[in-house]
Amino acid sequence: MQNIQHIANDLIYVGASDRRLALFENVYPIPRGVSYNSYVLLDEKTVLFDTTDASVASQFFENVAAALAGRKLDYVVVHHMEPDHAATLMDLLLRYPEATVVTTAKATQMMEQFFGAPASRRQTVKEGDTLCTGAHTLVFTMAPMVHWPEVMMTYDATSKTLFSADAFGTFGALSGNLFADEMDFEHEWLSDARRYYINIVGKYGLQVQNVLKKAAALDIQMICPLHGPVWRENLGWFIEKHDIWSKYEPEDKAVVIIYGSIYGHTEAAALRLGTLLSERGVRGLKAYDASHTHASKLVAECFRASHIVLASSTYNNGLFTPIEGLLADLKAHAWQRRTVALIENGSWAPQAAKLMRAELEQMKDIAIVGDTLSLKSALQPSQEEQLAALADTLVATL
Ligand SMILES: Cc1cc2nc3c(=O)[nH]c(=O)nc-3n(C[C@H](O)[C@H](O)[C@H](O)COP(=O)(O)O)c2cc1C
Ligand SMILES: [Fe+2]
Ligand SMILES: [Fe+2]
Repeated sequence: MQNIQHIANDLIYVGASDRRLALFENVYPIPRGVSYNSYVLLDEKTVLFDTTDASVASQFFENVAAALAGRKLDYVVVHHMEPDHAATLMDLLLRYPEATVVTTAKATQMMEQFFGAPASRRQTVKEGDTLCTGAHTLVFTMAPMVHWPEVMMTYDATSKTLFSADAFGTFGALSGNLFADEMDFEHEWLSDARRYYINIVGKYGLQVQNVLKKAAALDIQMICPLHGPVWRENLGWFIEKHDIWSKYEPEDKAVVIIYGSIYGHTEAAALRLGTLLSERGVRGLKAYDASHTHASKLVAECFRASHIVLASSTYNNGLFTPIEGLLADLKAHAWQRRTVALIENGSWAPQAAKLMRAELEQMKDIAIVGDTLSLKSALQPSQEEQLAALADTLVATL
């Protein structure tokens, strides 16, 4: 049974959601599922904007057929050749042999890599090229590295709709409501949207800034991304979030405590610091055990907050591995412009602070504040004062 939704008289949602996949890209947990969006434009010519992941193929093909209602498909615009969107492309071309693939030169090359052959009917487009489909004029704009090098977006100058590829997407399956304004996006979706953005494209802040500058020059009334809801209200709010994230600015003035602790003593000290911060009026504190929190969540929280407390046991002269992994992840995502305080632990030769500092010094504009608290097995009563001083320093810099 088809499950299509009208966005406008001539624009139809033909995507579908997957609630069974545990790990997106085989690494990011998606307990709320994910949607693979695709759209059909019914103009004098018919256009399909992107295909979907293989997991929702049967629903997708039923949807495309229902949306076209017997008409032939003239164009399929491919914004992104990653398999979560392009896995069903070859199958689509078999079903609609008259369709011309409209995409970038790089994507054409990737089609050959993935499928052994580019589509026989294809039209390569570059920045600013247009395609008139009747009433609609589509303008193609390149968005390299948002999230792959071949990515482009389409601006429908007639309906003022931006088909934004992976940009402005989010984890989370759709439940019938298609538009962000039909959901409590800020409370139910934003943390997944942040985790999606930071982990998928967080490294490419500069490229996202370039796209945001191009978008600012357009009159955009609606954003149709490849994952998550469609935006037709409050676009500025969501665009501003991406502006903050891609500039690596903290979203919230807030303290996040992240600890890696084998037996619990480093944890106890980190949580004691949390209490001292609370006594000093700090609100909205968050503490995470790095062993029990997925790295994608930790990285997203490090992007959200202005202040991070990192606490780690020493482990075979190195860092406790969950913290070691987190620092590698933060570095890989170009994390920068934050304030950090450090706590280390070790029963004979604590090394963790030195090692964390060495990693943080390789990142841009990370201010390490206060005197590092060095524990020998456990927090001693004599160290309370030092911990209080660390709390004072953090509060002073908030
Ligand atoms: C496998 C393993 C390796 C460790 N390696 C070191 C080390 O190289 N240097 C050190 O001072 N302590 C080392 N420790 C000891 C812990 O860092 C220390 O007991 C610390 O107090 C544990 O803090 P926690 O209670 O937060 O886990 C090691 C512990 C384990 C289990
Ligand atoms: Fe992608
Ligand atoms: Fe995607």
